[in-house]
Amino acid sequence: MKITSQFLREKYLDFFKQRGHAVIQSASLIPENDPSVLFTTAGMHPLIPYLMGQKHPCGTRLTDVQKCVRTGDIEEVGDDSHLTFFEMLGNWSLGDYFNRQSIQWSYQFLTDPAYLGLDVNRLSVTVFAGDDDAPRDEDSAQTWQQCGIPADRIYYLPKKNNWWIAGTTGPCGPDTEIFWDTGKPACGEHCDPSCDCGKYLEIWNNVFMQFNRQADGTYLPLVQKNVDTGMGLERTVCVLNGYKSVYDIDLFERALQTIQQLSGKNYGADAKTTRAMRIIADHVRTATFLLGDPVGVVPSNVDQGYVLRRLIRRAVRMANSLDMPKGSIVQIAQVYVDVYKDVYPELTDNRAKIVDELVKEEEKFSKTLVAGEKEFFKVISHIPGNVVPGGTAFKLYDTFGFPVEMTVELAAENGYQVDVEGFRQKFAEHQAKSHAGSEQRFKGGMAEGGGVEITRLHTATHLLQAALRRVLGDEVKQKGSNITTERLRFDFSFGRPMTADEIAETERLVNWAIESDLPITCEEMPLDDARKTGAIGLFGDKYGQVVKVYTMGNFSKEICGGPHANSTGELGHFVITKEQSSGSGVRRIKAELHSK
Ligand code: ALA
Repeated sequence: MKITSQFLREKYLDFFKQRGHAVIQSASLIPENDPSVLFTTAGMHPLIPYLMGQKHPCGTRLTDVQKCVRTGDIEEVGDDSHLTFFEMLGNWSLGDYFNRQSIQWSYQFLTDPAYLGLDVNRLSVTVFAGDDDAPRDEDSAQTWQQCGIPADRIYYLPKKNNWWIAGTTGPCGPDTEIFWDTGKPACGEHCDPSCDCGKYLEIWNNVFMQFNRQADGTYLPLVQKNVDTGMGLERTVCVLNGYKSVYDIDLFERALQTIQQLSGKNYGADAKTTRAMRIIADHVRTATFLLGDPVGVVPSNVDQGYVLRRLIRRAVRMANSLDMPKGSIVQIAQVYVDVYKDVYPELTDNRAKIVDELVKEEEKFSKTLVAGEKEFFKVISHIPGNVVPGGTAFKLYDTFGFPVEMTVELAAENGYQVDVEGFRQKFAEHQAKSHAGSEQRFKGGMAEGGGVEITRLHTATHLLQAALRRVLGDEVKQKGSNITTERLRFDFSFGRPMTADEIAETERLVNWAIESDLPITCEEMPLDDARKTGAIGLFGDKYGQVVKVYTMGNFSKEICGGPHANSTGELGHFVITKEQSSGSGVRRIKAELHSK
């Protein structure tokens, strides 16, 4: 009998509900209070304040199914197990039960025939080997043994493998990871769960969060000991059915059928076709969820929008390589909206937006894709050696809309490499010329023209954000910015309309900062150091090795590419002209600078 994803979702939530856990809703894919990551990458992400000790309104035991996006392994997508979007089943103890209980429940859920009934002989686990920061996790190893996992399938591994943290600071701790033996032969004598040969598939991770990692790398104890677990839904459904690949599960069935119909080719015909079809199935699904998220993203050249654009354009290129007709991407997205209609109704609610944005992006890119590929092949037929120059990659980006990652992939398919550093230099030069600096990367909104007005309005945007955070609280985070010579537009996360008093107070604070004529200084530093100074800003990690931090007196400190005025006194009088909604949980302010 085929086991579906819905079966697993229900079983999991029921199991933990019966053990006193409150079922909570999946949060948005776009972290609303954390600019340090682009996407929600784990179920714990929205729960960080509660792992740190804040009281959760639903109690100390929680469980959910969280939508996640991880693009770190995007190059691996197309193999049997990697996905850029996945659902994470999770259960949490917020200072309630700890490792022993957590392990016992995991073992019971996995092996008890009343639940998943998996063969215990195919399970292996890893535990933390211990180091200067925390002891060897004998406690967990012992519990596994008591449950029935023999000692030779319990592996002690270092921090690199068995320690979990989201990013670089915050709640963290040793973990124990549960692996399924896929039945593939061991790749060698030392093949163990830390090996990526495909024999061992990680299905569940239980983190025993008891430390708070500081920016200086030290670990302080948390006020409470927590459990944070995450089980990959797609992978586990794959295992339960005895499938070889996650793409064989119910969630991909209709999308892959549609891809086959549209391309007239068979999934599995050959490795290249299979890979291309899987990439399309994966990327379109992720794009559909990003576009359909309540916070929502649209394709752009920065941050989340850039990742979305990359995903869509890569899917379009793969579809083109399979001779699929124009408009295929949106048809596949429609299939996903239907597949997920009961679990994620937001996709249905946002169907029009999903369709609209995909049609636009596909049209835009289809126009230049073929010409860009032609250009690429022309260049490689002329260059000596096998390195595509940075200038070519930049031309493909700038003129033909090829994300650099796509050029790298196209090059690799043809046995070439790309001078990515050279591309970055060209990119930076171009940005400097267009007065946008690395602004383009970090904040966007300044692509057109330059000029004193834009510089002033942009500088005022920093003051506005700082003022909003003082008036409305630190949950205010930039969601978007757009500047013309006449006005600034600033989108930020905030859940309700501002009151007239709040608007007046924000205006007053910005004008106070202007009248105080605060000096504006700029320092370049590594991104990590910038974060440590407490600078705010939307930062990805792509072009951000060294970033600029702009400081305006004690009022504002922000990572940004510039350009900026020399001091705030140059700005004139600041007036908010509009405060309105810009989607769910996002407000939009328009403001102007009047001469004094
Ligand atoms: N937060 C842990 C993970 O994502 C459970 O693996």
